[in-house]
Amino acid sequence: MCGIFGYIGDKESIPFVIEGLKKLEYRGYDSAGIATLNKGNLFVSKCLGKIVSLEELLSQKPINGTIGIGHTRWATHGRPSHLNSHPHQDCQGKIVVVHNGIIENYLELRRELAEAGHKFTSATDTEVLAHLIEEHLDGNLLIAVRKALHKVRGSYALAVISEHDPEKIIVARHGSPLIIGFGEKECFISSDIPAMLKYTGKIIKLENGEIAEVGKNELKLFNLLGEKVERETELVSWDPESAEKGGYSHFMLKEIHEQPNALRKTIEGRVEAESNLIHFDELNLSDEEIRKINRVVFTACGTSWHAGLIGEYLFEQFAKLPAEVEYAAEFRYRHPIIDENTLVIAITQSGETADTLGAVWEAKAQNAKVISICNVMGSSIARESHGVVYTNAGPEIGVASTKAFTTQLTVIYLLAIIFGKRRGTISNSEATKLINELIEIPQKIEQTLYQEEEIKRIANKFHRATNALYLGRGKGFPIALEGALKLKEVSYIHAEGYPAAEMKHGPIALIDQNMPVVVLALAGRRYDKIMGNIEEVKARGGIVIAVACEGDQIIAEKADEVIFIPKTSESLSPILAAVPLQLLAYHIAVKRGCHVDQPRNLAKSVTVE
Ligand code: AGP
Repeated sequence: MCGIFGYIGDKESIPFVIEGLKKLEYRGYDSAGIATLNKGNLFVSKCLGKIVSLEELLSQKPINGTIGIGHTRWATHGRPSHLNSHPHQDCQGKIVVVHNGIIENYLELRRELAEAGHKFTSATDTEVLAHLIEEHLDGNLLIAVRKALHKVRGSYALAVISEHDPEKIIVARHGSPLIIGFGEKECFISSDIPAMLKYTGKIIKLENGEIAEVGKNELKLFNLLGEKVERETELVSWDPESAEKGGYSHFMLKEIHEQPNALRKTIEGRVEAESNLIHFDELNLSDEEIRKINRVVFTACGTSWHAGLIGEYLFEQFAKLPAEVEYAAEFRYRHPIIDENTLVIAITQSGETADTLGAVWEAKAQNAKVISICNVMGSSIARESHGVVYTNAGPEIGVASTKAFTTQLTVIYLLAIIFGKRRGTISNSEATKLINELIEIPQKIEQTLYQEEEIKRIANKFHRATNALYLGRGKGFPIALEGALKLKEVSYIHAEGYPAAEMKHGPIALIDQNMPVVVLALAGRRYDKIMGNIEEVKARGGIVIAVACEGDQIIAEKADEVIFIPKTSESLSPILAAVPLQLLAYHIAVKRGCHVDQPRNLAKSVTVE
């Protein structure tokens, strides 16, 4: 995600834009920039780093103008750098664009524009838009933008200003949000409502496929066919604080609900089901190198380590590759037996976890091939790895990792398919089937989220527990661990995740009527065994909260509470099963009055050993 903010009126635009970008910094903060129009002349200021770096730059080299657009970046194409930061310009430097989204066909557009003589200065997909508008400019900026967008595939929220038309801002959206706010003889544009609430609550939200010409006291709205669109303004009554979270009470809850779109962004532009093609821009692993790999080691911490456990199952199952999972801190201080035929996969949301970074250095020292699965472009671990696959989940603000986890599982699933195809252990038709099953998952997460009120009722029933046990088998076991971690880190209830079969080797001594036992009773070849474990718990007076698959006719008779998830393959059920456990932990923590987004003693990124 990135943040866009703009102002057009009679006042100096810079203070409004900077203030707006600061409120949007949660959406991305690896680089930032501003462009203004002052007496018909364009001025641009941009830099690597947070908004505060941009402010310092502006204090040294100020720019002015009563029209301004700004951008705070969450890099998706092109590493964080000065050149890759927005705004981007055309060849003449008379058109500037800021953009949030992914232009999927930017490579082919870039090739065509270069052949037509356009010179590019960055590695971004966004710069293509500036040159495309330049290519189509014939006197009217709005028409040029509209024609350019007819060539574009992908998602965008964009703002354009130009010396060719110096009294307006052109905005357009498809897939990424853009809001227009109306003040007294001034207008605001923003990626979200909170950033402009201080100035106005009178807004319209651009719909997909709409484009608008924003003047200081007028708006002309069209669709991409050039037909005029009428839209009533709406009045937003949010208080600024709750609005930061898009109306959700906490970032954690917002990010749980963002998971369907987060997974869509993870998948977008990377898979073609029919041709079962999967393409990761920066994986940097040739087919030959993949075939030479004879062992995979996942290394990570916390939730990311749980993702590694699912990876172990999937790589063994799809690619028939020996795989193991190592806690990063343990891995780096052992003498791991790895070599140039070992692939080490570091999994990390932040890309800055010290132990995982240390594990990457150790792996490289032993000549292993290292790739990372990371959510922050240009982060230390991403830079240290030979190749990287970004989860594209957008910034995750809540300390408890949610959308990062499910997007990590999504990337791992696709990687395992790539390896299976390259090693000939899965056929093209199997790969197509697996990809099609994944493409259905975002919508199935949405279905799962509809159960939130039911999950909240269960949370209210068990929020006074002092202990909890989470049990699972097969791919349900890592989700049991993850569910237990979610509960303990946000609600401070002691919780353990355990392989269900291990219960009789010790934990069964814990069972009593005060300790809820959460069981992943997922469909699959271990179902009967897990039902046996539920019987064992019930026979000792225990309480069972089961996560089961829709259509399960037995579970309701066995468990005290049941949360159903939509049917899917055994390999994808972990993604769906994680969601109710995130919500259960969240609502228990809220009921207990815990500080959900910043739990005590925890940091979002553990950059110390
Ligand atoms: C998960 O909810 C925790 N916040 C924590 O375990 C986290 O997963 C761990 O610190 C690893 O962080 P990383 O993914 O940024 O490397």
